[in-house]
Amino acid sequence: MKRLLPLILFLSACADRSQMPPEQLGAGTFASYQCKQCHRVGYEGGDAGPDLTFAGVRKSKEFMALWLKDPAAWQPNTMMPNFHLNDDARANLAAYMASLKGELYRKGEAPWDKVKGDPVARGKELFLRVGCVTCHGREGKGGYLNNNVKGSTVPSLFKVKEGFSKEELINKMKIGVRYPAKEDPQGPEPHLWMPAWGEVLRPDELADLADYLISLYPPELEGSDDDW
Ligand code: HEC
Ligand code: HEC
Repeated sequence: MKRLLPLILFLSACADRSQMPPEQLGAGTFASYQCKQCHRVGYEGGDAGPDLTFAGVRKSKEFMALWLKDPAAWQPNTMMPNFHLNDDARANLAAYMASLKGELYRKGEAPWDKVKGDPVARGKELFLRVGCVTCHGREGKGGYLNNNVKGSTVPSLFKVKEGFSKEELINKMKIGVRYPAKEDPQGPEPHLWMPAWGEVLRPDELADLADYLISLYPPELEGSDDDW
C-alpha cells in the first residue's frame, strides 16, 4: 500500500485536473508559459505587451484562440512569439483570458486613479490599461487588422475631434458598435468589434478617455510613444 500511495495520489490529481473548468486550467498554462513576463494581469506582470486585465471585455474567446494560433497573422511585426500550442492548451488559455473582465482593478486603487488632476494623462493611462490600444493602436494611430471590414483594419482615433463632440464620444464608447459594417455583406462577421465600455467603465473614466482622444489632434508626426 505504501508503495502504491504516490500512484494513487498521482491518479487522483489527474482526475481533479480533468474536472477543472477550462479557465482554471488556462490560468495554469498562462503561468507555465510565463506569459506574465510580457503581460500584466492586475497588479503583476511585465509591460512588453498589452495589459490583459480587461482582455475578456475586448476580445472574444474565439478571437483569442485565433491570435494564439498565429499572432503574426494579425500583427506581422509582433514581438509575441508563436508558442505552437496544442488545441487544448489554446482553448484553455482563451477561456482564461475571456474570463478577465477588469475586476482585479476594482478591488483596490486602479492604476489610472494614481494620476491626479490631469484628465488627459488619466485618460491615456485608461487607454493603455483597459486596452483600447490593442485595437486602435498607440496614440490611436490605428493599424490592427480586422477581417471583412472596409480598409481591413480597426479605425484610427486621432481625428475624432473633427467629427465628434465630447458628449458624442462618451456616448459612442458607452454603447460601442457590436456589428461593424462589413466589406462583403455576404461574408463573415468581423472578429473585432467596439465593446460597450459603459458596462465596465464609470462616467468619470469615459469622460477622461474622451479628453485624451480629443488631445490626440493634431497627431504628432514624429516621436510616437511605445508604451503598453
Ligand atoms: C515577448 C513578449 C510576449 C510574450 C512572452 C507573450 N506575449 Fe502576448 N503579446 C505581446 C505583444 C507585444 C502583444 C501585442 C501585439 C502587438 O502589437 O505586437 C501581445 C498580444 C497578446 C494578445 C492580444 C492582444 C490583447 O491584449 O487584446 C493576447 C490575447 C496575448 N498576447 C496573450 C498571450 C499569452 C496567453 C501568452 C503566453 C502563452 C503571451 N501572450 C506571451 C507580447 C508577448
Ligand atoms: C476589440 C477592438 C476594440 C477595442 C478594444 C476598442 N475599440 Fe473602439 N472601435 C473598434 C471598432 C471595430 C470600431 C469601428 C466601429 C464601426 O465600424 O463603426 C471602433 C470605433 C471606435 C470609435 C468611433 C470612431 C469613429 O470614427 O467612428 C471610438 C471613439 C472608439 N472606438 C474608442 C475606443 C476607446 C476609447 C476604446 C477603449 C476604451 C476602444 N475604442 C476600444 C474596436 C475596438
